[in-house]
Parts: sequence; structure tokens; C-alpha cells
Amino acid sequence: MLSRRRALSLTATAIGAMAVGAAGRTAARAAADSRIRHIPYGACVNYVPLNREFEYRTALKSYCDQLTPEGGLFWFDLRPARDQFKFEMADAMLAFADANEMTLRGHTLVWYGAMPDWTKAISGAAEAEREMTTHIERVMGRYRGKIKTWHVVNEAIDDSKGDVPGLRPNIWLQNLGDKYIDLAFRAARRVDPAAELVLNDYGLEAADGVAPKKRQSFLKLIRDLLDRGVPLHGVGLQGHILGEHQIDRDGVYEFVAEIRSLGLSVHVTELDVIDKALPGPVAVRDAVVAARAYDFLEAICTAIQPSIIATWGITDRYTWVPIYNKRGDGLPNRPLPLDANYQPKPLWRVIDYFCSK
Ligand code: XIL
Repeated sequence: MLSRRRALSLTATAIGAMAVGAAGRTAARAAADSRIRHIPYGACVNYVPLNREFEYRTALKSYCDQLTPEGGLFWFDLRPARDQFKFEMADAMLAFADANEMTLRGHTLVWYGAMPDWTKAISGAAEAEREMTTHIERVMGRYRGKIKTWHVVNEAIDDSKGDVPGLRPNIWLQNLGDKYIDLAFRAARRVDPAAELVLNDYGLEAADGVAPKKRQSFLKLIRDLLDRGVPLHGVGLQGHILGEHQIDRDGVYEFVAEIRSLGLSVHVTELDVIDKALPGPVAVRDAVVAARAYDFLEAICTAIQPSIIATWGITDRYTWVPIYNKRGDGLPNRPLPLDANYQPKPLWRVIDYFCSK
């Protein structure tokens, strides 16, 4: 229960007075949380506030052990044209992480989303394999030894239909068939044999009748990949939790225990709680958000020690949630650990509890 949360040592004044700059992350982190973490905490980083907002950078330095580019490693950021590779954003994020004793995660090499228009012209198996392989070689190759964990394939399962949903349509499936996932992981393995290669997906946790089917297909895919000797090391549960549903704690526990029994690591990669359908009053909403995350993380952490707990953003000021999930009452969304003024919310205390318990 939430009553098991630890009291937070952080005060508003402590954040305000936090030393950054020369003293860097250590002093900032010490002010935010002096406890030892057994599970690292991470957040996705957005390039725009990273460049223009001191408080944003301070929050990342203070709270995070790891960052994930929110954009910057997407095809449409890296490859505006077929023969062009633009690494400025990702390089800058890596430099920020490096300078502040954080690591950077690779998100993502193969995904149906965030594709530049020119990729629609890719046609036939040979061309698709060549384009995918070149991409993985150039991008992973550039960050070999620096980005140590990659979401190689993102959101492979099609949850829109079927009792046991199949693979989601994308240009790779269309041109290469099911083996596109094998090809991606094998290419990634060749480029950086030391990297941890992760399959990442969402929609696995809600007690909504859909998630069990998705878990079933996801597990089938994972087992098939392992049976074929595909170099898959870890599974990412994004955790874009729909606040209106309870968490299927037993379902999540059993799923994660099964992944563990297959010898794979588990990563919480994109946690946030979508509060579109939750009550308006802030205290109530924040409590439900925290409770959902608690149930989700407790189910996972009972089955395994996840490699990371990462949220999809750190502050309600910068979140993707309103793009698709604006509230009907016009109130701003509150899906993340810090509010829009960088004050920690109950969700932060839940995350802190699991990372340091
Ligand atoms: C979202 C970003 O937050 C947006 O800024 C971007 O426009 C689209 O992608 N699952 C994922 C993430 O794996 O990459 C998505 O991030 C959210 C859903």
C-alpha cells in the first residue's frame, strides 16, 4: 500500500538551493536523495528544454541515473533524407549524460513510428534488409561502447485485433515478413556484441481484458525468438499506464516471472500514468497516479529486480501525454514524478521507494 512509502527527504528549499554547475550531479543528487539506489532511475530527455531551461537540466541531474532520448534517435530525426545521418541531437544528449555521470539508453532502432516519408518508398526484401542493416550499423556503430542498452525493436505487437494479436504492420514486416525482428537483433549483435538488446512494448499491465492477450502474444514472440537463437537479452515494459484501469498485478507478476525464467532482464522503460479519465482534484488524481504505479512496480519487483525504472519524462511541464490524452475539463495532465514546477509528487515517492528499498 502507499503507506509503505518512505518519507521524502527532499524539500522545496533543498531543490531551490541545489548546487549544480561545477559541483555537478553529485551535489544535486545528494540534495535530492541521499539513499543508495539498488535500481537505477531514469527519464526520457527532451532536446528543447534541455537546451533552454536550467531547472530542467537541474532536475535531470538531480534525480536520474540514466536518460533516454525522447527524440534524437528516431529515424525521422536521424535520417531526414535517405543518404543523410544527423547525429547532433543524440550527440548532445550523450554529452550531457556523460558530463553528469549518467548513462544514455538507445531508443529505438526499429519502430513503426517516427519514420521519415522517404522510407515509404522502400520496396522489396533486399532493399529493406539493406536499409535496416545500414541504419543499425551507422547508428549503433557510432555509439558503440557508449550506449550500452538498446531498444532494438519497439512495439512489435499489434494490439488492435485478434485473440492472440500478431505483429504490427510496418515497412519491415511488409517487406521482410516476421523475420524482420530476427534480422534487426542479429544486426545489432554484430555491430556491438557487448550491448544489451531489448524488445520493448506497452499495454501489458491493465486489468482491461486486452492486456492478457497482448502478454500472451508478446511471450510467444519472445519464446520464438529465443528458440531461433536470436540475441535477445531483455524485455522492456514501457508502462504507459491508463489511469482508469486497475493494474492486473497477478498477470504482471506472472508475465515478469516467466521472462525471468527465460533468463532475460526486465526494464521499465517509459512509465507514466495517463490521467485523462481520472478525477480533477489534484490530491485525488496524484494519489491514483501513485497507486497505479505502485501496483505496477510492486508486481514487477516481486518477480525480478528490474534493470531500470525509467519514466517518460520527469516533469509534468514536458510530457507527451496531452498530445493524445488531453483532459476534457481542460486541466493540465499530471502523469510524471515532478509537477510542472519541479516539485516531487506522490509518484516520485513510489519510484524512490522501489529504487532504493
Ligand atoms: C513519443 C514521444 O514522447 C513524442 O514526443 C514523439 O512525438 C512520439 O513518440 N512509445 C514510445 C515512445 O516508444 O517513443 C513514444 O514517445 C511514446 C510511446
